Amino acid sequence: MGRYYRSRHLSTLGAPPRLSLKADEPRRCHVQQRRTLAATPHYDIKKVGVVGLGLMGHGIGLVSAQAGYEVIAVEAQAPALESGKKRIDKSLSKILSKAVEKGKMTLEGAEKEKEKVERRITYSLDLAALRDADLVVEAIVENLDVKIPFYKQLGSLVKPTAIFGSNTSSLKIGDFAAPSGRPQQFVGLHFFNPVQLMRLVEIVRLHETEPAVFEAVRGYVARIGKTAVTCQDTPGFIVNRLLVPALVQAMLMKERGEASVEDIDVAMQLGAGHPMGPLHLADYIGLDTCLFILEGWVKKYPNEPAFIVPSSLRALVQGGKLGRKSGEGFYVWEGDRKVKPAM
Ligand SMILES: NC(=O)c1ccc[n+]([C@@H]2O[C@H](COP(=O)([O-])OP(=O)(O)OC[C@H]3O[C@@H](n4cnc5c(N)ncnc54)[C@H](O)[C@@H]3O)[C@@H](O)[C@H]2O)c1
Repeated sequence: MGRYYRSRHLSTLGAPPRLSLKADEPRRCHVQQRRTLAATPHYDIKKVGVVGLGLMGHGIGLVSAQAGYEVIAVEAQAPALESGKKRIDKSLSKILSKAVEKGKMTLEGAEKEKEKVERRITYSLDLAALRDADLVVEAIVENLDVKIPFYKQLGSLVKPTAIFGSNTSSLKIGDFAAPSGRPQQFVGLHFFNPVQLMRLVEIVRLHETEPAVFEAVRGYVARIGKTAVTCQDTPGFIVNRLLVPALVQAMLMKERGEASVEDIDVAMQLGAGHPMGPLHLADYIGLDTCLFILEGWVKKYPNEPAFIVPSSLRALVQGGKLGRKSGEGFYVWEGDRKVKPAM
């Protein structure tokens, strides 16, 4: 069906302008135009499905509901659904109480807004609840062996005009766009953590993505108040492609003994204006996550010289030192506060 839509759409765009019209032509043109419009799918995003209500998905569901979208929030297991609900509730309460504190909203207004936003979200453990969704944003675990069967199933459950957006950070979108059966209606929709605060969304446009799909997704991103940037299906997209190799170089510099952990971080903060130094950031992201991303890239793109797994990173993860989440990595951590360099 997608191929049919696409060819109709492209043929409309490619039609040469008519320079003269015979007496009966205005009517024929009108009929032809009406037919073409009817054949071109209308990607009007009103209902947004979010699958996976973890760290990222709960934020995506929340910002979508706050922007006025009807949201269908889907999880795989009941406990995860419960904790997704709680996360949404907690984040929304926090946002609204800050607005009250700052005088942007009255307490009564905040309560009304909370009810309104909550009413827009329905929760389900059943993927079939997404059957009427116009856009499905996937934020499930970063594992190709989970994402491929997920998309195969999703493609057969939702309406033919639904658009799919994956929030993957490090996988190749094309690897699961094809199994979904609708690569022409597929984009990467890469949000940043925490979704409620971070203003950027990378829209990854595949060669197959239809222009009308891309425009509809751009409209969605604008309506949720984020800034969109666009790139191709390239590893790490824009931000992580530039950021992760910088973390690697900082680790290698430390390994070679060229500078201390603190000096590397202070240098990049004060010299390059980064809010956080690269080793601090690696600890913050989680060293296991950094290792997972790098190992995946090295395996998939063995000829890319920027993708290297530093031996110090592997050793730290093997020793259970995962950064902030485990209490030690390049730094020793107390909760969310880094205390001192670990070595
Ligand atoms: N954590 C980040 O900073 C970050 C940033 C950008 C993008 N991402 C990407 O977002 C995605 C999710 O990451 P996260 O950090 O939110 O993970 P998470 O582990 O916090 O959440 C994933 C959720 O997906 C659910 N899930 C797993 N399989 C499912 C299925 N088949 N159906 C429905 N739900 C399912 C899990 O129960 C879990 O609640 C990943 O692809 C990740 O690469 C993460």
